[in-house]
This record gives sequence, structure tokens and C-alpha cells, in this order.
Amino acid sequence: MVKGSSLNEQKYRLDLSRYRFERACEELNTAQELFEDGHMNASASRSYYAAFYALLAVTELDGFESAKHSGVISRFKFDYLRTNVLDRGLSKLIDNTFNLRKYADYEGFYVVSLEEAQKQIDSAEAIVDTLQPYLVSRWTEMEKRIPNAIFTRTSTRQFESRPVESKYIIKILRAAMAAPSACNQQPWEFYITDDKDIISRLSQVSPYAGPVKNAPAVIVPCYHTDGLAVPMMAEIDMSLATQNILLEAEDLGLGAVMIGIAPIPERMNAVAEILKLPENFKAFTIIPVGWPVNKRPQEDRYEPSRVHTV
Ligand SMILES: Cc1cc2nc3c(=O)[nH]c(=O)nc-3n(C[C@H](O)[C@H](O)[C@H](O)COP(=O)(O)O)c2cc1C
Repeated sequence: MVKGSSLNEQKYRLDLSRYRFERACEELNTAQELFEDGHMNASASRSYYAAFYALLAVTELDGFESAKHSGVISRFKFDYLRTNVLDRGLSKLIDNTFNLRKYADYEGFYVVSLEEAQKQIDSAEAIVDTLQPYLVSRWTEMEKRIPNAIFTRTSTRQFESRPVESKYIIKILRAAMAAPSACNQQPWEFYITDDKDIISRLSQVSPYAGPVKNAPAVIVPCYHTDGLAVPMMAEIDMSLATQNILLEAEDLGLGAVMIGIAPIPERMNAVAEILKLPENFKAFTIIPVGWPVNKRPQEDRYEPSRVHTV
């Protein structure tokens, strides 16, 4: 799980619940296929898993996780059936699918009959179908409550020492390259490093680049100057890509800060020298990225006097 702000925990739970429900639907299809191929024990087992994953989709939404199936089932009954949040009739269906699966998988020589396997599919389907509208409404509600990264992002200058896995960097760069650019010229070239020596040298290219020194990973957004449709817009394009980087990092529970490099020639040249940039590449900014030590709330900067209606 992506650890960090409660924003991430909420997103994690929402994604996990959706994933569990997808698995439930997949297992239901598999159970049907196995039934049609005459594998009754296997089909009964998969039907049970369809029902179980659907229950997990509900319990994990509320943060309950248990390695034991019996733990999930009794929690589900306690929290959602006993309280009439969901139809109490589900209880019997759950018990039946659980018991038949126990026989199908673990009871020596037990052969699940065609009727039993069909009933098992019907029960699992009924459980999945009953839970679906409840889950959809919970997902929709939860999505409305998950705050937008635009309004939670703040600059992070202190990072934990743990590394940032490359999968996160790739997500961040995917966000960067989703930015708009003049004539769609996409002038960006991204340099990535976790090399301590390079990071230390980058932290000295400006009096304000100190936060780079603490970072486990550093992204240096650069741009090329050859073949651009509107070269004078390249740095504006890079600003937008940079904002996408900062927002995606926030979304992932990471922290980052933009270090001002362009348009100051001395800083741009210092970065170019460290990274050995080709002549036609220009350094735009430096962005240290890592897991934040502290997360502070964003201040509300909305200022009505700055809005001019004409
Ligand atoms: C163009 C630009 C240059 C910046 N340069 C630096 C910098 O060199 N060092 C730094 O620590 N922060 C730098 N920042 C971050 C700002 O200080 C920060 O965005 C501002 O104080 C507002 O705080 P917030 O990002 O937490 O909302 C820069 C931000 C921008 C947009």
C-alpha cells in the first residue's frame, strides 16, 4: 500500500475495493466455464471465491483486512447484515457457498454434483448482484470526498531516506508528458538520478537548491531546442509539465518541490555541465522527489480582490 496521507489511504481503499469486485466477476465467469466443462468441484470452489471477493470489496472499503476467510465473513455479517445495511438473507447464501467449497476442496473423495455446482453459481451470483449497487454507491460517495491534489499539494523540502521505486517515477513522468504544449511541440527531455554524487552537485547550482541534497530521487526536466514549432514557448510548456509532476507526486503520496533554474543562464549552464547535456538541450528546473517527512496542510490563497469581472 502507498503509505502517506489519508488521501492516499482513501484512494488505496477505493482502488482495492474496485479491484476485488473485478476479481469477483472474473471468478464468477471462471466458475461458469468450469461448470460447462464438467469440473464441478473446481467450479464450486471458484463460485465461492467470487462471493468471497465481493465481500472483501465491501469490508476493505471500510479498512477491514484479514488473512482469514472466516474473519472476513464474520465481520461482514456483523457490520453489514446484523445492522441491516445489506439484506440479511445474504447470510444463508454465504454459509452455503462457504460450506460447499470446504467439501469441494478439502473433503477427501467428495464429488460436487451438477445440481450443487449450479446452486453454488446461483448463490455466488446473487451475492455479487446484491453487493454491486451498494458498492457503486459507496464508490461514488467516496470519490466525491477524496480531495483534489491541486488543493493538498505543498512544496516538500525534507524527505525520508527510503528510495522512490521506478514505478512511481514512471507514473510521474507519464503525468509530465500529459501536459499541454504550444502546437503540441512537447519539447521535454527528462533526466532522472538517484546518484548521490550527482544529487550533491545539483544541490549546489543555486543558493536555493538545498532541498535537492536530501532527496532520494531527482528529476531534471530539460527541453530540446531543435525543430520546435514555437521555440519561445518551450519554457512555458516546461512549466506546465512541471506542475503535472508536482501534482502527480502529491497524488502518489510523494513530496516534491520546484527549484528555479531557467531562465537564469548560470544555473542552466551549471546543470548542463553536471548532466553533460548536449548543446541543444537546456535545463529547465530541478525537482527533488521523495516520501515527505512532514505533510503540512495547504493554505487557502483564494483572494476575491484578485478577480476582476469586466
Ligand atoms: C518558478 C519557481 C521557482 C522556485 N524555486 C525554488 C527554489 O529554488 N527553492 C525552493 O526551495 N523552492 C522553490 N520554489 C517553490 C516555492 O518557494 C513555493 O512554491 C512557494 O513558496 C509556495 O509554497 P507551496 O509550493 O508549498 O505552495 C519555486 C517555485 C516556483 C514556481
